[in-house]
Amino acid sequence: MRLDKYLAHANLGTRKEVKALIRQSRIKVNGCVVKKEDLKINEAEDIILFNDQRIIYQKYVYYMLNKPQGVVSATTDRKDKTVLDCFDIPLRDDVFPIGRLDKDTEGLLLISNDGALAHRLLSLRYHVDKKYYVQCANEVTEEMLSKLEQVIELKDEIYQPGRAERISSKEIYLTIQEGKYHQVKRMLHHVGNEVVYLKRVAFGPLKLDARLKAGEWRSLSEDEIKELGGQL
Ligand code: URA
Repeated sequence: MRLDKYLAHANLGTRKEVKALIRQSRIKVNGCVVKKEDLKINEAEDIILFNDQRIIYQKYVYYMLNKPQGVVSATTDRKDKTVLDCFDIPLRDDVFPIGRLDKDTEGLLLISNDGALAHRLLSLRYHVDKKYYVQCANEVTEEMLSKLEQVIELKDEIYQPGRAERISSKEIYLTIQEGKYHQVKRMLHHVGNEVVYLKRVAFGPLKLDARLKAGEWRSLSEDEIKELGGQL
């Protein structure tokens, strides 16, 4: 990998900023000051120092974002802000959101560059629970709750049973394992109600950190990464 890319990935700054650090002789590779920003390094073996401190390089990064309304779950978009625009640090260029939330849905979204983990978390085979807090336009009847816990067959789609828990007359938690397009909204519509506000509160073993306001993010802890099956 190029030295400047490595330094940017290690969160030392943007590509432009890390090039400046190299020019200022603040970077050493295996004990020698380097001046070449495109020097090829071996990230597994070479010892890279910044101001004589060893840089710890993480191959994989894992962030929890409390997605706000109004941003799209994509890495780029021609007209809308994306979930990556919520980050106030220079992100590596290989990160992406694991799964999607609608533009008007809030809540827990994982951002990572671990493709194998994304595959496991999104594959139906692995039965990963996604729990949503749902506010409905109308009272949620017992019959609606029971229908949400049965297979739902639409003309163009079939949904496996969810788990529905009442919070109040118009609020429920709905847990599903699939992540099909507009699934929660369409399930509620099918049982005779409408979603007015939707927020994902848990994804597999991870719960949305209540300290994160909409639009805020944090790195996952080592325990959280292990629990999810990510790589340290
Ligand atoms: N179901 C929906 O309808 N929308 C989401 O954003 C997530 C699940």
